[in-house]
Amino acid sequence: MTPIVEIQNLTKKFKRRTAVDNVNLDIEQGEIFGLVGPNGAGKTTTIRMLVTLLEPDDGEITVGGHSVHDDPQEVRRLVGFMPDSFGVYGDMTVQEYLDFFAACYAIPSAQRGGLIRDLFDLVDIGHRRDDMVDTLSTGLKQRLGIARVLIHDPSVLVLDEPASGLDPRARIEIRELLMEIARLGKTILFSSHILADVAELCSRVGIMEMGKVVAVGTLDQLNQSLVPHRLLHIKLLDTAPLAEAQAALVHMPGVTAVRVQENGRADWLALEVEFNGDDAAMQALLTSLIQRGLPVVHFSEDMKNLEEVFMRATKGIVS
Ligand SMILES: Nc1ncnc2c1ncn2[C@@H]1O[C@H](COP(=O)(O)OP(=O)(O)OP(=O)(O)O)[C@@H](O)[C@H]1O
Ligand SMILES: [Mg+2]
Repeated sequence: MTPIVEIQNLTKKFKRRTAVDNVNLDIEQGEIFGLVGPNGAGKTTTIRMLVTLLEPDDGEITVGGHSVHDDPQEVRRLVGFMPDSFGVYGDMTVQEYLDFFAACYAIPSAQRGGLIRDLFDLVDIGHRRDDMVDTLSTGLKQRLGIARVLIHDPSVLVLDEPASGLDPRARIEIRELLMEIARLGKTILFSSHILADVAELCSRVGIMEMGKVVAVGTLDQLNQSLVPHRLLHIKLLDTAPLAEAQAALVHMPGVTAVRVQENGRADWLALEVEFNGDDAAMQALLTSLIQRGLPVVHFSEDMKNLEEVFMRATKGIVS
């Protein structure tokens, strides 16, 4: 399938500083794609070129096959963009705000009422329709911002840090809202510093640093390529056979280290095993422990979190 967003050799310089440096990225239809990276990595600059607000110095971006350079109008029709700051709309109610943007997109007034009601339902803000926009909390403003970018029914939503400044509840609500929007068939690209959100939501992640995409893939792929070993946790019913288990494990294929993990309870010791085999080797390892009569009560792989992947990627381990 042709990707809905194709970014090729994208470059942008501000005076001598290269903000975006030869970036290549494809985003498939229906994906939730997360762009992460430290401050100044070039996320916003990339996003602004994608949504036609900034002209690239070099390279090309297409959305649905339309070039941002040759056909920006069509790209704007396909894309809904929410910037990282909300802007000030002092004298408008929530209802007026959405009506104003619907009018900007030339949606006939007869259709606007129904459309706005649907959006109120989706982002769950109808109860505040008569309140002034400026009086809304940050979380509600973000939800209103998301309603606004949906108003012309775009295929691709581009959100620059949609969860920044939100409390945990508001963040989870935005997460759920984005998942619901993805279920409607939209493609979502968002940037974030909140790695938990990215890990929770995204089908794929791109990590940027100093203008370059230093890693891209599913979380599993990034884990495998950036974190050199897998980590297994094995618990036994009692501590007596611990030494036997440890001795057996060190000789098993794929095992590179075995440690006893203390957790303060003498009757509940676990073994931590560094492992570089595949799933079949992991299964063979478990079978072998059981065949030796070792009382395994817990066997799991510790899923490395995105933070570790992020730290490794942005330390220049990948180049
Ligand atoms: N209009 C501009 N003029 C000059 N330099 C700019 C401009 N916009 C961005 N830059 C520079 O380009 C680089 C990338 O900035 P950008 O805002 O894209 O990073 P970012 O990844 O979005 O960072 P953050 O996580 O802080 O939002 C930074 O060094 C920034 O200072
Ligand atoms: Mg930014």
